[in-house]
Amino acid sequence: MPKTLEELASSFLKGLIPYVPGKPVEEVERELGIKGAVKLASNENPLGASPRALRALREALPDSHRYPDGGGYYLKRDLADRLGVTPDHLILGNGCNEILDLMARCFLLPGDEVVIADPAFVIYGMLAHLQGCRKILVPLKSWTHDLEAMAKAVTSKTKMVFIGNPNNPTGTAVTPAEIEAFMQAIPEDLLVVMDEAYIEYVPQEMVPDSLGFVRQGRWVIVLRTFSKIYGLAGLRIGYGIAPPPLVELLNRARAPFNTNALAQRAALAALDDQQHVTSSRKVNELGKAYLTTELGRLGLQVPPSWANFLLVDLKHDGAAVAEALLRKGVIVRPLGGRYLPTHIRVTIGTPPENERFIEALKSVLQS
Ligand SMILES: Cc1ncc(COP(=O)(O)O)c(C=O)c1O
Repeated sequence: MPKTLEELASSFLKGLIPYVPGKPVEEVERELGIKGAVKLASNENPLGASPRALRALREALPDSHRYPDGGGYYLKRDLADRLGVTPDHLILGNGCNEILDLMARCFLLPGDEVVIADPAFVIYGMLAHLQGCRKILVPLKSWTHDLEAMAKAVTSKTKMVFIGNPNNPTGTAVTPAEIEAFMQAIPEDLLVVMDEAYIEYVPQEMVPDSLGFVRQGRWVIVLRTFSKIYGLAGLRIGYGIAPPPLVELLNRARAPFNTNALAQRAALAALDDQQHVTSSRKVNELGKAYLTTELGRLGLQVPPSWANFLLVDLKHDGAAVAEALLRKGVIVRPLGGRYLPTHIRVTIGTPPENERFIEALKSVLQS
């Protein structure tokens, strides 16, 4: 009897539930026969990319027949200058998701323990599962990573810990002092993934000196991305900052041309447009204040978010409300799972998008 595909596949694929992406806006509009749907489901920048990045993209298009610079020379040099590290502290990825993937592939082996907050970014758990690891899930405390409990959960078998700061889907952040205490409490040979995909939204006094641990040579990789405040999610580019020996190991497994030429050029131009970053932050702050107030008026509380999205407890089945919102042309993310059956995650949009969401939500909750 020939083997089935299931038998041939890695046994760790069993029980793995694939990440379900939302439908494209155009498809939602076509299916529902509506126009002007707003997508507040994937934590993208509602202002879009910087005009400078768009110009750089247009200028780069004629070179599309060339392979990209596999070493990302110019982008790494620019990032290194801005971050106060050397280029060999940097690795570029097809979104920082690819770097999460590389960390898992390069370090995690069956039987290793991985400490993850619950709920956190779903990809951490999926990667640990795929490598055959034991997931040690540590519940959040007041919607925030409980770093004290996470440090206590570390055993001699623990290989890696993931910290989403700010955390997705709650938007909460840990304080610099909490991170400092955590780093002192854990063994030196524990790999720490500090996922800072939303860090540019966080006020300076709340940003931990995660790069300080990297400079000290601790086994920390800090992940950042151009998908969020820089508005380049569709181009797929992010980066990791880690001690050079860690970067060197990841580079052994990295595909040679993992970040594309357009993404590299756009990212460079986006870094140069800090005014766009400032405007994006401002729009986000205003939107956050508006949504928090309006949701409060509807009797709905949200955990304090330091990112560009809010976790909303609807006190009704989250998936059903998300479906009803979809029919009104507002796309949000239902969460589900053990802790969040009545929650949705909504990305903070432009003022008209936020108003549209609130109006749609009012009407759904009334009916
Ligand atoms: C916490 C967190 N980490 C990483 C990512 C992945 O970002 P990228 O688009 O750079 O792969 C996301 C995207 O939503 C995220 O929310």
